[in-house]
Amino acid sequence: MPAPRQPVAATRFDLVVAANRLPVDGVDDGLGGTRFRRSPGGLVTAMEPVMRDRDAAWVGWAGVPGQGPEPFYQERLWLRPVSLSAEEIEQYYEGFSNETLWPIYHDVIVQAAFHRRWWNTYRTVNRRFAMAIVEAAAPGATVWVHDYQLQLVPAMVRALRPDVRIGWFDHIPFPPVELFAQLPWRRELVEGLLGADFLGFQRVADAENFLRTCRRLLALATKGDTVSFTPPGDDPSVQRTVRVGAIPISVDFKGLDALARTPQVVARAAEIRSCLGNPQVLVLGVDRLDYTKGFRSRLRAYEELLREEVISAPQVTLMLVALPSREHIDAYRQLREEVEATIGRINGQFSAVGSAAVYYLHQSYPRAEMAAMFLAADVMLVTPLRDGMNLVAKEYVSCRHDLNGALVLSEFAGAWHELHEAFTCNPHDIEGLKQAIMAAINSPRDERARRMKALRRRVADHDVQRWATCYLESLASAPSKPHSSASNGRQRREIQLARSVRLRALDHASEQVSASEQVSR
Ligand code: F6P
Repeated sequence: MPAPRQPVAATRFDLVVAANRLPVDGVDDGLGGTRFRRSPGGLVTAMEPVMRDRDAAWVGWAGVPGQGPEPFYQERLWLRPVSLSAEEIEQYYEGFSNETLWPIYHDVIVQAAFHRRWWNTYRTVNRRFAMAIVEAAAPGATVWVHDYQLQLVPAMVRALRPDVRIGWFDHIPFPPVELFAQLPWRRELVEGLLGADFLGFQRVADAENFLRTCRRLLALATKGDTVSFTPPGDDPSVQRTVRVGAIPISVDFKGLDALARTPQVVARAAEIRSCLGNPQVLVLGVDRLDYTKGFRSRLRAYEELLREEVISAPQVTLMLVALPSREHIDAYRQLREEVEATIGRINGQFSAVGSAAVYYLHQSYPRAEMAAMFLAADVMLVTPLRDGMNLVAKEYVSCRHDLNGALVLSEFAGAWHELHEAFTCNPHDIEGLKQAIMAAINSPRDERARRMKALRRRVADHDVQRWATCYLESLASAPSKPHSSASNGRQRREIQLARSVRLRALDHASEQVSASEQVSR
């Protein structure tokens, strides 16, 4: 049962997280209204350990149009909804965020659309988020802004509250400068981000793309992983230095591992296989229905393997879970039509009575059901054309405590840079993808176990809790590095020197105060 919602008066917090969405789902309260309950997984799980012992607030959109609910506490976390009108959802969220930025940041897989009114609304909504953050942040607070929907927020917050420490994390890829340069508002976006003290990216390549953009488009000076600049309108002799780093996000390994070991999930996994007719090989795909995820390549490879009789259904069965996403956007609607038509064609040709070649599910599922699907699948297909990280790959690995199961992973997913023991594929190369699928299907049990063990070790050692802690440490010490360089001799001496100079200045000031007090007495 969720804790009762209590409206609270304006109050201030040491840690303020801002993301496009609040970590809640709106559910029907049975009285014609909406009740909000904590959404499981994702960012909120990551933030739990770092928020647990401190006063923390979360600023975000509640996911419904119109006036959002009043701020409320939920399990010690203060939730501050940002309201968006239906028009703002269309222009800021669907428009600028997902039809302008999303394609540019994902290799322009579909054409990006540029509309000045979308940009204006993006700016307005970013300002609204910034105001909400400013009101919620205690003096000297840490502010952690998330993702591409809020790129102007760091500079907007800094302009109003220079006392706070500001970080931003990019959950999606950061594009090469040649693509970023298409954006008519490229300068404003970079200047928005440079309001932060620390900018976190998924991969080193993303961080490098950002630094190159600073040099090439704004002629800024970069040194190592830092960029120095003077905010527009500020004294040119004063420069701020912003650090940029790669801190790949992860999943709650322990939580997922424990969930997948529960008797209920183990039994449900067996039940899923049995409902599907106990195929010899169950191949699974789970993704938001997004054109970046490689649905077309995956279906094409599977169809060709069936047609060429390399595999046959129902001995090999594909279960495709397409999580509904951004359904008002044309490119997403078209993708859905195409995916569903392709599956219809494959099933028409290759299914038998009582056993489909492809089981297609266009729904969202609770965490336990997802864990059971992961545990049931012999082969997991993660084939994006471009993906910031892809947490499904890490979730699959976390659930496979039996060390069985083979992961086929696209080299265009951020996760591929960590999960080296997966069966690698290039989703643009259909022959190569077919070979990777067959290598996974035919891999001997001991090879799967060896690969899965290594994959699990990586995710267990670099889980989401470690990600959040590393991020906050990097933010706290920016522009220096938290461990390596901050602990090297020279920098340590500089920090000590700065501290002692500050202490001496404070001593001097208090001596002067007491001297003047003596004079005036
Ligand atoms: O990965 C990028 C992202 O926007 C996340 O922030 C979000 O959880 C996911 O995609 C789903 O997006 P949306 O909020 O548009 O449904």
